[in-house]
Amino acid sequence: MAIILKKIGILTGGGDCPGLNAVIRSIAKPALSFFNAKVIGILDGFEGFVEGRMRELTRLDVTGIVNVGGTILGTSNKGDPFRFPRESASGITITDCSDMVLENYQQWGLDALIAIGGDGTMNIAHKLTGMGLNIIGVPKTIDNDLDATDITFGHDSALQIATEAIDRLQTTASSHHRVIVIEVMGRYAGWIALGSGLAGGADVILIPEIPFKWQTIFDFVWKRSKGARYSIICVAEGAKPANGNHIIKEKDVKRTDPVRLGGIGEIVASRIQEETKLETRVTVLGHTQRGGSPTAFDRILGTKFGAMALQAASRGEFGCMVSLIGRDVVTVKLEDAIRRQRLVPPDSQMVIAARAVGVCFGD
Ligand code: F6P
Repeated sequence: MAIILKKIGILTGGGDCPGLNAVIRSIAKPALSFFNAKVIGILDGFEGFVEGRMRELTRLDVTGIVNVGGTILGTSNKGDPFRFPRESASGITITDCSDMVLENYQQWGLDALIAIGGDGTMNIAHKLTGMGLNIIGVPKTIDNDLDATDITFGHDSALQIATEAIDRLQTTASSHHRVIVIEVMGRYAGWIALGSGLAGGADVILIPEIPFKWQTIFDFVWKRSKGARYSIICVAEGAKPANGNHIIKEKDVKRTDPVRLGGIGEIVASRIQEETKLETRVTVLGHTQRGGSPTAFDRILGTKFGAMALQAASRGEFGCMVSLIGRDVVTVKLEDAIRRQRLVPPDSQMVIAARAVGVCFGD
């Protein structure tokens, strides 16, 4: 049922990524020009929503930002309203503050909220939909681990950055006849490692979906040291040995996902050097994968996602997420997007193609 949109809220939640501003722009511009609506930018994700922080966006705010990384609204991966962390002298207490979101939503007079984020944001959006808020999700994350969409925006930009890094490591590794390990992000999914490893010509790719055996890696790089004389190993932060566990950098109860992965690259590099005596170095790519300008693909996808989210809002279609299926942007139910994480199928065409060109997955 079509509705008259007078006030629309926009929020960016979770880790930032390139393309967020393209989405904000493609919601705000048509909302202001064609719907004559007010656009409320909620600051710093759900943390700002609970705390009642927002500002009205003008055309000027959203002009010239399609190519700008980050988010003009700010974001946070710590403000889950259903388990909101509060610090006091006695420590951190976790409380359900979802009623404050509802209160602010009503007080600001929002007709709809467009929540741009990853699985954490979509989970919160789904629960808030159950409380009566009119919400539409837009799938964002460099990790590409959201289900019910072929791709999330931000992933292509991260792939581009990681591929360029591997290209650079190739020349220094071959000049020094070294093994170089590069650790990339991705949480529990190996999409960034697989995509950038394949595009950058990595010799070994380690992903969470294919647990590795140490000896297979040692034998592989040793053999290469007698031929090509260097090896590039692209390891996802979530990669783990068979019968081993994820390497956790930090646990923080304030985060929507308390676990922060990281450290496997250093372990892989030091074990290779120890066992094979080959000179080995490690690069942890870190947040460069989330920074800077979005690729053309992410600018276009972000623009399509934002425009379609606004159209869905004007149709009164809530509790959904915009999604790319094939070449078309469609809407899917929020619950379908959060049912499970989208992981790399070990028998996917990308894995098969990588094996065909001689990539070792350590299995
Ligand atoms: O989800 C995006 C992501 O960049 C993951 O790949 C990574 O594990 C995590 O966020 C890092 O979080 P933070 O920015 O809090 O260090």
